[in-house]
Amino acid sequence: MDLKQYVSEVENWPKEGVQFKDITTIMDNGKAYGYAVDQIAEYAKDLDIDIVVGPEARGFIIGCPVAYKLGIGFAPVRKPGKLPRETVAFEYDLEYGQNTLEMHKDAIKPGARVLITDDLLATGGTVKATIKLIEELGGVVAGMAFLIELEYLNGKSLLDGYDYISLIKYED
Ligand code: PRP
Ligand code: MG
Repeated sequence: MDLKQYVSEVENWPKEGVQFKDITTIMDNGKAYGYAVDQIAEYAKDLDIDIVVGPEARGFIIGCPVAYKLGIGFAPVRKPGKLPRETVAFEYDLEYGQNTLEMHKDAIKPGARVLITDDLLATGGTVKATIKLIEELGGVVAGMAFLIELEYLNGKSLLDGYDYISLIKYED
């Protein structure tokens, strides 16, 4: 199945000059969404994963059905102030300004093998922050899976030494 044909490319959104990749037209198609989830679960099945982790909000859309398919749990990475119990936080730079992500301290057991999921690998800042949180808690990032990779933003350069797949690639 050619998943790319289910992505809606929206010109000049959220701002002038950006071509937004809208994945809602994958999600609202049962066959395409199911295929994407199955591909990621297939990648993960030999990685001996203990738990899936995904960053709010679109990482949940990918990660939760993959966790269900693998028969394991899911732990959320959230924007500040959303998680009720003790958290760890990691602050990272955006093009303009900064962002912080948090995880519950007890979400990852030391030595746990983790699969990270998100809809999009762009600059890599979000996934790198997610890796930092997992590793601070003693987890091992065994693999990562993205629906889309914007190769021209070179997020890959932040992920040296980590294994990942992306199902749909845009070279430019
Ligand atoms: C988007 C996307 C990825 C991230 C990728 O999330 O869902 O998580 O950006 O960009 P990066 O590789 O440059 O970090 P966004 O922060 O827009 O939030 P959302 O998932 O809550 O919509
Ligand atoms: Mg996101």
